[in-house]
Amino acid sequence: MNRAGLEVKGLTAHWDDLHVLDDLSFKVEPGQFTAIVGPSGCGKSSTFAALTGEIGIDKGSVEVGGVPVVNHGNEFAWMPQSGALLPWRTALQNATLGIELTGTPPAEASDRAKPYMDAFGLSGFEDSWPHQLSGGMRQRVALLRTVLMDRPVLLLDEPFGALDALTRRSMQDWLERLWEQHRWTVVLITHDVREAVFLADRVFVYSDRPAAVKATVEIDLPRPRRLEMIQTPEFARMESEILNVLFST
Ligand SMILES: Nc1ncnc2c1ncn2[C@@H]1O[C@H](COP(=O)(O)OP(=O)(O)OP(=O)(O)O)[C@@H](O)[C@H]1O
Ligand SMILES: [Mg+2]
Repeated sequence: MNRAGLEVKGLTAHWDDLHVLDDLSFKVEPGQFTAIVGPSGCGKSSTFAALTGEIGIDKGSVEVGGVPVVNHGNEFAWMPQSGALLPWRTALQNATLGIELTGTPPAEASDRAKPYMDAFGLSGFEDSWPHQLSGGMRQRVALLRTVLMDRPVLLLDEPFGALDALTRRSMQDWLERLWEQHRWTVVLITHDVREAVFLADRVFVYSDRPAAVKATVEIDLPRPRRLEMIQTPEFARMESEILNVLFST
């Protein structure tokens, strides 16, 4: 498996005349799960746009595995915030879309995806159309599409944002268990502080736009994480530490 660290140094970027990132720096160790939380519209998704080359970088640098990223090639597998599935492709075909677009023949792409269907809770639904899947299943298909890219760093933008609270909890639990097995290098954007504490080793709290890292909070809760831990005083302390930074001016 491909896995590497990520270092963002002094990143400054804009959309047209809107300054979105301002001297943004953070570091993710290989195999570490990190989360970004911050106010709506502050520049979280824009960070991924800058990493993947969708917007240009005015200043600063990005390194993956200690090597500067220049042409935004194969470093990142990105699950966009609106990670919509194509309605005319089945669950399996949606999962293989990314690797097919990068040149894997369809038959080989299916062979690569099929062994994951069980772990992603999609067994028996390979040939279902997106409208026949639950919201959680659709997100798992989009996540599988991202994982199959086998890139050194996974960028997940609000993967559970559109789900109801109960489904969201079970998806967080599922993702934690899956991550324990694979130990991908992950950057997860979320507006859910509890989700960030539950899943991450390290949380970056963003300022208002233009975004910079206001605080880095290390989550030293033991692994594997289990949902019962949410009730513990240590968990509550981490959560309130992050909330305090978010709401401080
Ligand atoms: N494609 C785009 N073109 C122009 N401006 C954009 C584009 N995408 C985002 N922006 C602007 O950049 C700013 C930051 O947006 P961004 O999507 O990064 O916020 P965010 O932190 O991800 O917010 P949310 O939590 O609501 O998803 C916003 O003011 C937004 O209007
Ligand atoms: Mg966003």
